[in-house]
Amino acid sequence: MKFFADTADVDAIRDLAETGLVDGVTTNPSLIHKSGRDILEVTKEICGIVDGPVSAEVVATDHETMMKEAEVLRKIADNIAIKVPLTVDGLKTCKKLSGDGTMVNVTLCFSANQALLAGKAGASFISPFVGRHDDIGYDGMNLISDIRMIYDNYDFPTEILVASVRHPIHILESAKMGADVATMPPNVILQLFKHPLTESGLSAFLADWEKTGQTIG
Ligand code: E4P
Repeated sequence: MKFFADTADVDAIRDLAETGLVDGVTTNPSLIHKSGRDILEVTKEICGIVDGPVSAEVVATDHETMMKEAEVLRKIADNIAIKVPLTVDGLKTCKKLSGDGTMVNVTLCFSANQALLAGKAGASFISPFVGRHDDIGYDGMNLISDIRMIYDNYDFPTEILVASVRHPIHILESAKMGADVATMPPNVILQLFKHPLTESGLSAFLADWEKTGQTIG
């Protein structure tokens, strides 16, 4: 399963990239706002840190203007994936861009039928928002298992990119269900490393090692 960082914070991306575990990045208009940076400038910087897909989202709602924005965004770097919303105009844009060989990430997916439409429109990635689904009293992970089954039934190459991730259990369940990618805020990626027994075990080993009076090398 690939790990994407769900942030436009370049310092955080640089730190995480050093682990070798970051396969891509996703941004959205809210994350760009949070960064306080110019979209073209910050996205270019991110594309220079990470080799994998970096999603940059259009903000127009009509197909024609989405295409114009996509033209600007895809010139930023070769690893740009254009993010479009799951609307009629968004999927028209997806079909056109993917036909031209551009990576497209279809975002704001909240149903398996929507994911089926995105697969038919040739999306490279579908982004089901599990956390926001949980927030309104549904089980967001059901979306992932349904989409996995549908895409496997028809051999859609569209990758399931689990989005709106809030905690490590979303990642565990995504991996068990065979999601292709999970995009996570930096704090969730760091939480995956942690276990109290790892921490207490390491402290005990280091305390005993100190008692030996030895050094290595
Ligand atoms: C990623 O592509 C999405 O935009 C993001 O995961 C949304 O997360 P949120 O629901 O925490 O805003």
